[in-house]
Amino acid sequence: MAATTVPAPHSASAEKDLLRFITCGSVDDGKSTLIGRLLHDSGLVLDDHMAALERDSKVVGTQGEALDVALLLDGLQAEREQGITIDVAHRYFATDRRTFIVADTPGHEQYTRNMATGASTAQLAVILIDARKGVLIQTRRHSHIVALLGIRHVVVAVNKMDLVGWSADTFAAIEEEYRQFAAGIGLAEVTVIPVSALHGDNVVAAGANSPWYTGPTLLHHLETVVVGDDAAARPLRMWVQTVIRPSLDFRGYAGMISAGTVRPGDRVRVLPSGVETTVARIVTFDGDLPQAVAGQSVTLTLADEVDISRGDLLCAADRPAGVADQFEADIIWMHEQPLLPGRPYLLKHGTRTVSATFGHPKYQVNVNTLEHLAATTLELNEIGVCNVSLDRPVPFDPYREEPETGGFVVIDRLTNVTVGAGLLHFALRRSQNIHWQAVTVDRAARVELNRHGPAIVWFTGLSGSGKSTIANLLEARLHAEGVHTYLLDGDNVRHGLNRDLGFTDADRVENIRRVAEVARLMADAGLVVLVSFISPFRAERRMARERAGDVPFLEVHVDTPLAVAEQRDPKGLYAKARSGELVNFTGVDSPYEAPEAPELRLDTTALTAADAASAVFDRLRADGVV
Ligand code: ADX
Repeated sequence: MAATTVPAPHSASAEKDLLRFITCGSVDDGKSTLIGRLLHDSGLVLDDHMAALERDSKVVGTQGEALDVALLLDGLQAEREQGITIDVAHRYFATDRRTFIVADTPGHEQYTRNMATGASTAQLAVILIDARKGVLIQTRRHSHIVALLGIRHVVVAVNKMDLVGWSADTFAAIEEEYRQFAAGIGLAEVTVIPVSALHGDNVVAAGANSPWYTGPTLLHHLETVVVGDDAAARPLRMWVQTVIRPSLDFRGYAGMISAGTVRPGDRVRVLPSGVETTVARIVTFDGDLPQAVAGQSVTLTLADEVDISRGDLLCAADRPAGVADQFEADIIWMHEQPLLPGRPYLLKHGTRTVSATFGHPKYQVNVNTLEHLAATTLELNEIGVCNVSLDRPVPFDPYREEPETGGFVVIDRLTNVTVGAGLLHFALRRSQNIHWQAVTVDRAARVELNRHGPAIVWFTGLSGSGKSTIANLLEARLHAEGVHTYLLDGDNVRHGLNRDLGFTDADRVENIRRVAEVARLMADAGLVVLVSFISPFRAERRMARERAGDVPFLEVHVDTPLAVAEQRDPKGLYAKARSGELVNFTGVDSPYEAPEAPELRLDTTALTAADAASAVFDRLRADGVV
């Protein structure tokens, strides 16, 4: 999760006194007010800020003529206008004892994403609870994420105590309920403090309203809590961000050290290649360093000329990270469109981006009861455990041991939007124990016997567009020419191999994943494979093309307008779909994503089926397949 890393504003020696924390809670719990109060009451607000604050309080504040300390935090215009916090805002402040970096994370359910990214480097979490409302679903969800992210220290600020008359009983009940829940998710270090962010009680100074409370104030706790950040003592980990090559005689590798300490002369191992070498110099703008530690951005030069590129990981040679391409991981899903098992996504891991697919969730976690639930997918804000399979091996550590090499972000390949985050548990052993078996009769041998090469002709289009008719005519023609073929037809394959699948998005993804694999095997067997499936999603057609590798792949869009296909309705299915008898029907209540750049587009309103088949045949001939 390098993209979300907060650069340390101080040198390594000052790091000891640095506490990174996040605040989380639901929208109205008063997060911004609390942090504003911390800054204000500890005298950390500069004079010009105060003047602006007084002015803004009168215009957009929610506290009448009184100072609205929440505005101190609301740096973003949109926040001010909406009165809610919409993105992670990092604040730096310092007291005599410590420097603080606080990420103010939003409370709306759909902003769980920001919360997870804000939390990735935090050592402590302040979770707000509105004393009037007690422990809410969001409280539990946020606590869960905090626990997953390995944040061990939690402060629960039970806010708005003034609005419950500073009732010791109310506080005790909330504390009891939270502690029980926290124990269940493995949060051991929990401190619960009754506060009024608005009036300031127990934030910086103890309030007179809670004589029954004998614990620390929030600031005192933040200043004194021992978080034991041992990053510099752990084994070296540094993702290569850039290879710097200003001239032929200098080659440096730049990046931030995410764990460990490095000195010239140290042995390092480069992953995934596994090559070992020695650190020659630690180069910075201000001259060479004798050593560098976690949190510092440096450029290293190495004793040997080795092949290293962006996305490689430099590790301590004696305690290197692992390398694997299949894992079990916690997944936090963050997008309205649910996770589709089998669909390829991009996975950003350190400075490396790879292609990844997820298996069906092993289970989903009910954030309220902590029960493990059966799940076929993960929806927005859901947390579950899945196997992840990558298209190539990557260096990794379990997240619990090393967040920077164990955490990743999931990105949609077509929209480039972040859709999830994940925390690696461990590599699957099977990925280490399955190898490629060499075979004697290979594709070249089969091509020689067949006297033609393999190919995949992928027909896509609406139901009733004419895919199967055209594919059938094409196969007859190829067969007559002595070409070895096989026709994979959606309806037929759904009677056997895919008879367990229906027509939900997830099932269609799996349907196409399987048929893409079968097509690839058949092409490897030397056949010209004709695939006739609606295959409505771009992502899966792209996957099928990628799986084909160097086998010629011809995407053929059988382009028939919906109205025409519906008019033909050869199986009477459109009529059923329109009457509501059939749901998830492509074109009616399930999407069809037309190809953007198919090799061939067949307009069936202008061509006969025979002409269309000939057009594909001619293309195969032109491409030298037959
Ligand atoms: S795909 O979307 O997963 O690629 P596939 O090509 O296997 O679909 O199957 C489509 C065929 O299943 C259609 O030609 C039609 O005969 C039948 N069918 C039954 N229900 C549906 C539905 N809800 N949506 C689309 N096709 C359906």
